[in-house]
Amino acid sequence: MTKRSFIALCFTACITAGTHDVFAQKKTIDQRVDSVLKLMTLDEKIGQLNQYSSKEEVTGPESDKSSLLLEIKAGKVGSMLNVRGADRTRRTQELALQSRLKIPMLFGQDVIHGYKVTFPIPLAEVASWDLQAIEQGSRVAAIEAAAAGIHWTFAPMVDLSRDPRWGRVMEGAGEDTYLGSLVAKARVKGFQGKGLGNTDAVMACAKHFAAYGAAVGGRDYNSVDMSERTLWEWYLPPFKAAAEAGAATFMNSFNDMNGVPATGNAYLQRDILKGKWKYTGFVVSDWGSIGEMVNHGFVKDKYEAALSAITAGSDMDMESRSYTANLAKLVKEGKVPVALIDDAVKRILRKKFELGLFDDPFRFSNTQRETEMVGNAQHRAIAKDMAKKSIVLLKNNNSLLPLSKTTKTIAVVGPLVKSEDDMLGFWSVGWPDNSDVVSQWEGLQNKVSNNTRLVYAKGCEVSDTSHAGFAEAIAAAQSADVVIVSVGERREMSGEAKSRANIHLPGVQEELIQALHATGKPLVVLVNAGRPLVFNWTADNVPAIAYTWWLGSEAGNAIADVLFGDYNPSGKLPMTFPRTEGQIPIYYNYLNTGRPAPDDDKPSNYRSGYIDLQKSPKFAFGYGLSYTTFDYSDLQLSKTTIGSNDSIIVTFKLTNSGKYAGEEVVQLYLRDEVASVVRPVKELKDFTKLLLLPGESKTVRFVINKEKLSFYNAQLKWGAEPGRFNLMIGSASNDIRLKNKFELK
Ligand code: NOJ
Repeated sequence: MTKRSFIALCFTACITAGTHDVFAQKKTIDQRVDSVLKLMTLDEKIGQLNQYSSKEEVTGPESDKSSLLLEIKAGKVGSMLNVRGADRTRRTQELALQSRLKIPMLFGQDVIHGYKVTFPIPLAEVASWDLQAIEQGSRVAAIEAAAAGIHWTFAPMVDLSRDPRWGRVMEGAGEDTYLGSLVAKARVKGFQGKGLGNTDAVMACAKHFAAYGAAVGGRDYNSVDMSERTLWEWYLPPFKAAAEAGAATFMNSFNDMNGVPATGNAYLQRDILKGKWKYTGFVVSDWGSIGEMVNHGFVKDKYEAALSAITAGSDMDMESRSYTANLAKLVKEGKVPVALIDDAVKRILRKKFELGLFDDPFRFSNTQRETEMVGNAQHRAIAKDMAKKSIVLLKNNNSLLPLSKTTKTIAVVGPLVKSEDDMLGFWSVGWPDNSDVVSQWEGLQNKVSNNTRLVYAKGCEVSDTSHAGFAEAIAAAQSADVVIVSVGERREMSGEAKSRANIHLPGVQEELIQALHATGKPLVVLVNAGRPLVFNWTADNVPAIAYTWWLGSEAGNAIADVLFGDYNPSGKLPMTFPRTEGQIPIYYNYLNTGRPAPDDDKPSNYRSGYIDLQKSPKFAFGYGLSYTTFDYSDLQLSKTTIGSNDSIIVTFKLTNSGKYAGEEVVQLYLRDEVASVVRPVKELKDFTKLLLLPGESKTVRFVINKEKLSFYNAQLKWGAEPGRFNLMIGSASNDIRLKNKFELK
């Protein structure tokens, strides 16, 4: 027996015995990775770079001889997605352990905002501006997923976007880089918990690298044309934050950037991610994106696609089958150095070791833990808390809200009142089931007293063109003291590939609101959607509006808490709401022009506005009301001139001047007045969320240092330039309450 086959035998025997390789205790993970790599054939290495989706049970009798099953047993599948559940992952892992080297498989899944207990969609969670709560949401998702055998979630999506036509905004953190970077960190921390290796942690995946959110025209998968400065200044920082937070993996993206598909983009993956940022995790392609480079017209066939992707730094091929089909040939022909394959394999094996899978491949597939954790009641309570915090109160004339719990009759109208599926959002289509979603109807029933009568009428479907249901809805409204109308989008209307050219409230829903408004009854509108929608008539005429997104398993209870004042809404918009699609892309941190639009926000000629519409949005970034009011006063700066190593302490007084206890998200914006490249009219640089009792005041403190004043100059050098800065503190990007200036010497 040769030395090599002896080691192989030991390795195999030891894995079978449930331990790991003989020298494991004394070795570092890198040494253990190397010891496995040495045993691997080229085909086995390529197998590690291959990820398939399970469309159905792979271990059933009918699939015994399926090619997938045979490939798994031959060690040709390093990872699978869409295999979930302790039992199913165990049975699939058993197949992987029948391979020669018994290398365990990784199970990935899109656990985006919850596994069974579903949290609000990510964009909604960001509206809470509560980083701890966001981290906790991802933590719960990880605990449940890990108990169901999953090692890896394809989240967080950290793509910044300024275009609400792009349906994937529902999965991101909105339009702001600073907020988005903090959210990216919080989510990575939440998913990965105390670190890989704990059985309640899953690997995070920062996606989609890079610039996916800037698809031209808001059309998903579309091209991106972007300057280097925009890339570095706005689109990359959330990825960098995720990498720094230790995100175990990255996913590249479907789009091309400036003509080069991200999947075959060495500048993004090799130079920036693995080079400049020294990233040690691995990169998975997006679904089929390696093969899709053929459609782009970037490569001739999958053979060239595999060459391009592996060279550019895509380590794992999700579902395109380009690597399994071509990499061996490419290596044999000398086109792909085996060192490149080894590097990718090592990155993947390292994660398998870190997860502890070589020590116990079944450690995540534990049915007892699954029963205890998945759908756990405590998780529901946390999801409800998150859902309440995610609601944004857009309008509340004459303090119509909160409603009295002794209201006699409430009409509850609209296509989403009784909906359960839609509350779960796009990522729930097909899974998980809606069996325990609290609809708005149920939530209201849970809330009101026995003396309150709830009258339901659907009015119309979400995308209806018919008014047939209006009469019943109007009659319900006429019989009531107040009318709650629940409108918006179905869950299939915002999400992957759900770009919409028309983002108005779909169908005849706004006409339904008009008809109900004509009854003269007080109206409260709830807008449930995965993106900013346009609903100008409603916004201008209806007294109370709450944006309720898609809030997950506890949607109905959370909404009822807000409507009846058991929770005072505190959400703020993480994305600008346009007046019409023609304003898109629209975002608060735009650059000033030589001919700025007039301050009175009227339509303008020979100015950078529109001749037929005002320039401002309908609802601005950072905007959101409370049942109470907050006063901002006593702004003080410790200095008004600083050197580059100094910092300024900014303090001011925040007072709850209303009747209810409430939370305020205080926002700090800066503007660099003159710089070597034009700077935005304002940039969010800090924020905090505080709870104040009625009449209570608190001193808020922020620190401004050079880092907060820095930007990428024309040579892409990061730094601050001397000059004057405007400091703006307020309740929204368009509601600045305190101002001052300071100078950097
Ligand atoms: C395609 C999506 O773009 C990506 O975000 C997702 O993780 C994969 N499909 C896997 O489902």
